[in-house]
Amino acid sequence: MAATFSKGSTMTEEPIPLLDLTGQYRALAGLLQPQVEALLASGQYIGGAAVQRFEEQFAQFLGGGSLEAVGCNSGTDALVLALQALGIQAGDEVLTSAFSFFASAAAISRVGARPVFVDVDPCTFNLDPQLLERSISCRTKAVVVVHLFGQAANMTQILAIARRHGLAVVEDCAQAVGACWGGRPVGTWGEVGCFSFFPSKNLGAAGDGGAVVTRDPQLASRVRALREHGQTRPYHHEYLGLNSRLDALQAVILSVKLPYLREWNWRRQGIAECYHRLLQGIPGL
Ligand SMILES: Cc1ncc(COP(=O)(O)O)c(C=O)c1O
Repeated sequence: MAATFSKGSTMTEEPIPLLDLTGQYRALAGLLQPQVEALLASGQYIGGAAVQRFEEQFAQFLGGGSLEAVGCNSGTDALVLALQALGIQAGDEVLTSAFSFFASAAAISRVGARPVFVDVDPCTFNLDPQLLERSISCRTKAVVVVHLFGQAANMTQILAIARRHGLAVVEDCAQAVGACWGGRPVGTWGEVGCFSFFPSKNLGAAGDGGAVVTRDPQLASRVRALREHGQTRPYHHEYLGLNSRLDALQAVILSVKLPYLREWNWRRQGIAECYHRLLQGIPGL
């Protein structure tokens, strides 16, 4: 609610939506509509050039080089695909943050493994590296690090511990697309980065969407197979995968929005700083 003062100093309240997706659509409608129209006219609704183009642009946005991005149906599926591609299975333990959206731990259970919760640093709300090492057992195979609320977790310390114990690191970047740790984008530190394009995320599709990113070409091709029922070539199914592709329609929408992401992130940071400044020193806050 926004408090406003009308003449005579009477305070009124008006609702402020947490997020106005219609405003973003109105601003970009002129760019989005021809792209969506062309995609609809093309008849290429699954896979094809639009998905490939977005995957290349997204990998480039995160630093490019050998990084590969594989589009999929959601951030949740990105986590499941990543864990499956890493070979995480029943009997394994995976460490993860005790404070996150349901999907971070659910993905671990989905592949049959056991999530082991590690408490967070109360200042950043992210997994506390000091508490990580004591939660490692002989069954621990991986860590799912969550970068919550756009704040990067301490990847230097987490990676050092993971490397010491031979653990794979999966980064849940659903809430942190474009955030950096040590000048390097989150999602490019561990073995795999997982992103969500749920409409309310900083880079939002017009529906569900997600991506897995990795510098490991074998992992990338396993994720590509797993998102298509484990298919490695037409009608040859090597693994038990999912049907979890990124729709071509979502890919064209994401390609239009991606060039604006940095500017949108800076604007959010500016607004957050403004709130911090104005609310500073209020007792009880
Ligand atoms: C931290 C975190 N991980 C994973 C997800 C799952 O993403 P999706 O909703 O695209 O499945 C979300 C979505 O809210 C999230 O916030």
